[in-house]
Amino acid sequence: MLAEKQEDIVILAIESSCDETAAAVVKNGREVLSNIISSQIDLHTLYGGVVPELASRKHIERINQVIEEALSEAGMDLEGIDVVAATYGPGLVGALLVGVAEAKAIAYAAKKPLVGVHHIEGHISANYIENQDLEPPFLCLVVSGGHTHLVKVADYGVYEILGRTRDDAAGEAFDKVARAIGLGYPGGPKIEQAAKEGNPDAIVFPKAKVAENPYDFSFSGVKSAVLNYINGCHMKDIPIVEADIAAAFQKAVTEVLIEHAMMALDELHMDKFAIAGGVASNRALRDGMEAACKRRGVAFYHPSPVFCTDNAAMIGVAAYYEYLAGRRDGWDLNAVPNLKLGER
Ligand code: KG4
Ligand code: ZN
Repeated sequence: MLAEKQEDIVILAIESSCDETAAAVVKNGREVLSNIISSQIDLHTLYGGVVPELASRKHIERINQVIEEALSEAGMDLEGIDVVAATYGPGLVGALLVGVAEAKAIAYAAKKPLVGVHHIEGHISANYIENQDLEPPFLCLVVSGGHTHLVKVADYGVYEILGRTRDDAAGEAFDKVARAIGLGYPGGPKIEQAAKEGNPDAIVFPKAKVAENPYDFSFSGVKSAVLNYINGCHMKDIPIVEADIAAAFQKAVTEVLIEHAMMALDELHMDKFAIAGGVASNRALRDGMEAACKRRGVAFYHPSPVFCTDNAAMIGVAAYYEYLAGRRDGWDLNAVPNLKLGER
């Protein structure tokens, strides 16, 4: 007898944890029907970084229109939606609350189930969108503005954190160094661009090792080394070559990320590796990871840049697997700014 055809599950997902107001419609966990992102970068650029209060206000202004656009681009109304999902942590509390309150209101009014999603689980799940063959178990390096986690994805929704940053996140280090050399916000793409013109071996910045856990990361040392180098140049009246600093800094960060990830792949004997988060859109990091994986015969996965930085499609994908696992949230779902991965 033929197996009964599974009903489609269409999810409306909302993401508002930081400075992007985003909504998406995702079908059966892997098919993105729409992905609308309203970036607040122009606003926060004026201040050199994200201003939480302004982010929350902007989310409130934009969220309804972003959701309407996501539904209309998917050719849907709320009747066609089966589940409403939103990021509920980690992130900026005021920003998260906008998405959570909106998702609750829509789910309540449309009588649909509500699923809260962990932002990092979203980033990891972004890999499922364009890699239909990717299934757990695999190793994933999440590198964003707020997080640097080396995670073993044992199964859908089952995570084992092998290493994390002790201080700054990788993206945060890019942002701070970019500010120090006058490239502005957000730093990652600006450093990547500047590095193309620079010599990565012109300056040697340190690659910090963390004693107790070889999988942990530390980026405050390299950031301080860049600041000291710039101060030293000022004091000695040596001209600063921004492109060389960018290239040498990018090299120090990507090399340490690659070394730790490869060490974990070798020790855990894993044959699949994925990267995720805003920094995963960095070409030097991607190329370095790809080459290192190739040498080991490890399959390498990465999302397109649009699914690396914050978006709601990745939240819809993660919500799908959470929904299949039976997760349903009540009207008491709250924003949890420091939510841990794997926590309910
Ligand atoms: O994942 P994401 O959009 O937001 C968080 O969850 O934090 O990541 C944003 C971070 C920022 O720190 C930004 O500078 C960094 O990702 N980023 C990059 C690149 N594009 C974005 N870092 C390095 N190279 C890039 N091309
Ligand atoms: Zn993010």
